[in-house]
Amino acid sequence: MATVQLSFALFSLCLLQYSSGVFSATFTIVNQCSYTVWPGILSSAGTPQLSTTGFALQTGESNAISVPTDWSGRLWGRTLCNYDSTGKFTCVTGDCGSGVLECAGSGALPPATLAEFTLNGAGGLDFYDVSLVDGYNLPMLVVAQGGTGGNCTATGCVVDLNSACPSDLRVNSVDGSENVACKSACEAFGDPQYCCSGAYATPDTCKPTYYSEYFKTACPRAYSYAYDDGTSTFTCASADYVITFCPSASTSQKSSYSEATDVSLVSSGSALSCILSPYVAGFIAISVTAWQL
Ligand SMILES: *[C@@H]1O[C@H](CO)[C@@H](O)[C@H](O)[C@H]1NC(C)=O
Repeated sequence: MATVQLSFALFSLCLLQYSSGVFSATFTIVNQCSYTVWPGILSSAGTPQLSTTGFALQTGESNAISVPTDWSGRLWGRTLCNYDSTGKFTCVTGDCGSGVLECAGSGALPPATLAEFTLNGAGGLDFYDVSLVDGYNLPMLVVAQGGTGGNCTATGCVVDLNSACPSDLRVNSVDGSENVACKSACEAFGDPQYCCSGAYATPDTCKPTYYSEYFKTACPRAYSYAYDDGTSTFTCASADYVITFCPSASTSQKSSYSEATDVSLVSSGSALSCILSPYVAGFIAISVTAWQL
């Protein structure tokens, strides 16, 4: 009898976790840039905002955030942020227009490197990518941890595309001394061919261009234009994610991948206990039954 109750209690707990969306993934956001980054997070329409939508990360700092399993949205890094004399918070790149540290329902002003997530989507898989469709402002790496199935590999754009940015796509710092971001050709020229709009609004008509190929060559796993899905979308089930800014600040791409993997191994213990609890309860039931015999 006690076993039945225990089993029921554990089962209810799991059911509650699933139905309330409490059962969650962890995003660990790491700043390995030599400068401060202010991450911004925007949930997709109809998805509640996370516990934070914007904060500062000094060099070497990280922040772990709980994310509901069915969350979808995007995450990016804001750079060169400041409070002006009136107390308004603005960033030279990736600004979300809120005027304060936290974002408020708006995404990054392009150009900005974006990490995009749809957790627990089709087939129970998480879909994730790093996109340069809205341009580039800093190197970013996304590493799935503890997940299964799909193609759980690391993705991102780990090179510095600011210094290498084609001259007609460059965004200069206020004093003009350095490139702080690199526009997409769509943003720079507004041409439907670059934007995959108008007559170019289908995968058949919108093809890679000179500019998208430039991005693709530099960052083969990142989205370089709107219909770049085949080589840029990654899938994984029940994973946690480490999102690192400037993963290769001083090292090669290869070692940066393992560094990022080492940064944080936040495992989803709750997921495991929930999956295992029926078996644990069953095991206790069998043990108790055997003992009673
Ligand atoms: C990853 O798998 C998905 C299907 O689950 C597929 O659509 C996508 O093209 C794959 N990504 C890569 C980069 O191979």
